Amino acid sequence: MRKGLLITFEGNDGSGKTTISKRVYEALKEKGYPVIYTREPGGIDIAEQIRRVILDPANTAMDARTEALLYAASRRQHLVEKIIPALSKGEIVLCDRFVDSSLAYQGVGRGIGMDAVWKINEFAIEGHMPDATIFLSIPLALGYQRVADRGNLDRMDQESLMFHEKVAQGYEQVKERFLDRMEIIDASQDVDSVSDQAQRACERIIAALW
Ligand code: TMP
Repeated sequence: MRKGLLITFEGNDGSGKTTISKRVYEALKEKGYPVIYTREPGGIDIAEQIRRVILDPANTAMDARTEALLYAASRRQHLVEKIIPALSKGEIVLCDRFVDSSLAYQGVGRGIGMDAVWKINEFAIEGHMPDATIFLSIPLALGYQRVADRGNLDRMDQESLMFHEKVAQGYEQVKERFLDRMEIIDASQDVDSVSDQAQRACERIIAALW
């Protein structure tokens, strides 16, 4: 049987990851690929419960390391309950955010350090790294504006522009560290052309790795 494939979508808030990854999912499903769509933090009941705690704007007292541990805990449960079973059936898993988000947001955004965040995530994921990552690249100000226009901001969305700048720097380090699995797409273009490029990138990855 084929081995499964884990393709993650990453990028700053407002890069359009959710819209694009869902479109790619629909297109691949339409073409008959055994594909599932999921997201982090969340994807299954326990992880969605943890998501609510993390993103609740009322939780202003949350410590940065508590936050990092909660993301890692939700990732662990999601991996064990949903991602690994799908991969072991040979399926293609499209995941909206994964470990790279923790490295960028908690490691650099919160200033905990990438190595410390990597350690707890190593414990959580036991070597289950993405096969490939679609990185949606967007100028910071544009992403920030898109999020502000969306309204209904969660605890992370409400962070300062300076925090999101650090996250963007964190992603630059993540891209360098894992360059061989990165597909970088300019997400400031219109949605149709971004999703076309992301779909084509996924089909190339599937043809090469699946
Ligand atoms: P979402 O808006 O993409 O669903 O993600 C929720 C927020 O959580 C978003 O601001 C990014 C943030 N996040 C982290 O800080 N660390 C993580 O490990 C993950 C998965 C998300």
